[in-house]
Amino acid sequence: MTTPNIIIANWKMNLTERTATELLTSIAGIPQHVRDSLRMSIAPSACFVPLVRQMVPWITICAQDVSAFDYGAYTGDISAQMMASMGVTMSLIGHSERRYIYHENNAAIHDKLRHCARHNITPIVCVGETLEERQAGDVKSVILRQIDVLEKYSNPFMIAYEPVWAIGTGETATPDMVDRVHTFIQKSVGPDVPILYGGSVKADTIDSILRIPTVHGALVGGASLKSDEFIELVSKVAGYLDKTT
Ligand code: PGA
Repeated sequence: MTTPNIIIANWKMNLTERTATELLTSIAGIPQHVRDSLRMSIAPSACFVPLVRQMVPWITICAQDVSAFDYGAYTGDISAQMMASMGVTMSLIGHSERRYIYHENNAAIHDKLRHCARHNITPIVCVGETLEERQAGDVKSVILRQIDVLEKYSNPFMIAYEPVWAIGTGETATPDMVDRVHTFIQKSVGPDVPILYGGSVKADTIDSILRIPTVHGALVGGASLKSDEFIELVSKVAGYLDKTT
């Protein structure tokens, strides 16, 4: 379980049909040995799910979010059931952009997890502290509050530790910071739950992140949008795994 081979590309609200097609054309050229050694997933905007499914059928598709509701009069929402019906098998849940921009709270996250479980979608619950919380020494209490929603969750899930101050900023947490938080999370959620790191992960930094023994993979935002950078990043992961496993 310690093989750090999970790479999830979080496209966020980026790309158009044309640029997504260009990016997927490059990703479709990733060599077989790299594909085989990684558990790769793309989290596109919902409108691009069919495109990803068609162009790279070997890649797992991850939703960026699912609705807290089951179905019905919720204009703009996309349900876990709809995502599952489109071949989606994973979903980010509680990404910090959802928590801070859309004020998503634990009650909503709890409902989303329930829908994921019902439709066999593996949630990747995103957790992480703000800079103020880190400076106040509150990292552990913040993370505990965020993972509290998983207490009675009995289906498979993953955690992505993404310090808010490291997302899209070019700042990466030091290996020591990541290791401490991952160790703490692993103790809290149990030994079998994969824990990913996210926050300005790039081709240049992926090696140092994978070397941290408590890291099982990475959630990659900005660097997953540039084909050269993303392909270099996944090739480095495969190279790293070749050397260490
Ligand atoms: P970033 O985003 O790699 O651009 O920092 C990561 C994320 O928010 O998942």
